[in-house]
Amino acid sequence: MAERILIFDTTLRDGEQSPGASLNIQEKLEIAKQLARLGVDIIEGGFPISSPGDFEAVKLVAKEVKGPIITGLARAKKEDIQRAWNAVKYSKKPRIHVFLATSKIHMKYKLKKAKEEILRLAVEGVKYAKKFTNDVEFSPEDASRTEPQFLYQVVEAVIDAGATTVNIPDTVGYATPVEFGKLIRGITQEVPNIGQAVISIHCHNDLGLAVANSLAAILNGATQVECTINGIGERAGNASLEEIVMALRTRKDTFNKVTGIKTKEIYKTSRLVSGLTGILVQPNKAIVGANAFAHEAGIHQHGVLAKRITYEIMTPQSVGIAGTKLVLGKHSGRHAFRKRLEELGYTELSNEDLNKAFVRFKSLADKKKEVFDEDLEAIIEDEVRMIPDTFILEDMEIRSGTKVTPEARIRIKKKGKIIEETATGDGPVDACYKAIDKIIKIKCRLVDYALRGVTGGKEALGEVIVKIESKGETITGHGASTDVIEASAKAYINALNRLVYRRR
Ligand code: KIV
Ligand code: ZN
Repeated sequence: MAERILIFDTTLRDGEQSPGASLNIQEKLEIAKQLARLGVDIIEGGFPISSPGDFEAVKLVAKEVKGPIITGLARAKKEDIQRAWNAVKYSKKPRIHVFLATSKIHMKYKLKKAKEEILRLAVEGVKYAKKFTNDVEFSPEDASRTEPQFLYQVVEAVIDAGATTVNIPDTVGYATPVEFGKLIRGITQEVPNIGQAVISIHCHNDLGLAVANSLAAILNGATQVECTINGIGERAGNASLEEIVMALRTRKDTFNKVTGIKTKEIYKTSRLVSGLTGILVQPNKAIVGANAFAHEAGIHQHGVLAKRITYEIMTPQSVGIAGTKLVLGKHSGRHAFRKRLEELGYTELSNEDLNKAFVRFKSLADKKKEVFDEDLEAIIEDEVRMIPDTFILEDMEIRSGTKVTPEARIRIKKKGKIIEETATGDGPVDACYKAIDKIIKIKCRLVDYALRGVTGGKEALGEVIVKIESKGETITGHGASTDVIEASAKAYINALNRLVYRRR
């Protein structure tokens, strides 16, 4: 029988460490609930000691999300472990995840500690975590650059101390598949008590090898894989959950492994994570990218029409992408609207949120003949905010052309008062942002601006995602409208609202 691979999702912890991604507590809960529906085995909700927000998020996830094991990260320090326990203890299945670096580079430059001390701290950390729960995971950080003999020694010692899972991270994405597979094989052969623990792996994507390394490790004895939705995470990201799961499923002939993932929930989860983190999925991304199942070349189209398997190794339906993209029009009612949103993964909307989104949908349907799934997602991002609107765009007027200096007049409601300002700029968006700055008066710098048409056609809805930086914090904002300048203004104001919320 095919062996079961445990899926450990760290979207809410390592994924949230992606530059620019920041999730509030409710958003984390919404994603965690969807991860449970997706069927992941373990959810890493955060790093509880890192901030009060992370602590509260892990605690809320532990309280509310049933099914998966809920874990929180902790350095091998008593105060971290205690804090992690205080957050995860509300779960029926709590786990504490302790980590400590073991590579020469980290021990010398970061920790300034010798091998003996590292070994002692790792063991003490695991023993302390065991006082709270039996389910303790230990990660020797930067394992792929650790001397193998020392790594075996640490792994053996932490298992003796009670670790039930040992996770081998390729922290900096340095490993290659053959080498990483060999390292895992070495652990299975050289660590005498390895049979008492689950071998997990955790790969980063700095060389684009995170998924390949994870699969090589699975072929060599790993039975838990740590990954994130859409592959988001530190720097170039983590191994992507959907790619690993679909590789195991599509190439069962090679791997002979199964997972508990309900693959039809994959696309929904990907959209939810992308919408809430503000990290767009590249169109050519495997499994969930917009082009993953699109056939452009005539020969390919002909082949697919004759027989799908000529050019398709998986069906879009198997990952939850509907065959047809057309959903609703102006005659659609509230019931159909709610049902479609539920199919897209928005199952947690209150009646009030639903009403707000429905009004916006009706007004879009009046302007546009066909309303697509992407339009609905953009509406939800825009209308159903978990963040209170400190600043609300009331009205705007733009003057622009080839021979005039672009000028923007903006009216914003701030603490119940309407404030109006005018500004000129290099272009209409620049003028708009300068006028907003005059009203809102928060010192910040625009570090990224991305515009995409979420649907085709002249009346398409445009979605703008901006990143702003203020006092070392980076915040993302979204805005959607059929008018791209309005979408730009909304995205900027959304980022400022998030910034104010976070500071509070
Ligand atoms: O990349 C890494 O080493 C980690 C550990 C904390 C597991 O994220
Ligand atoms: Zn990591």
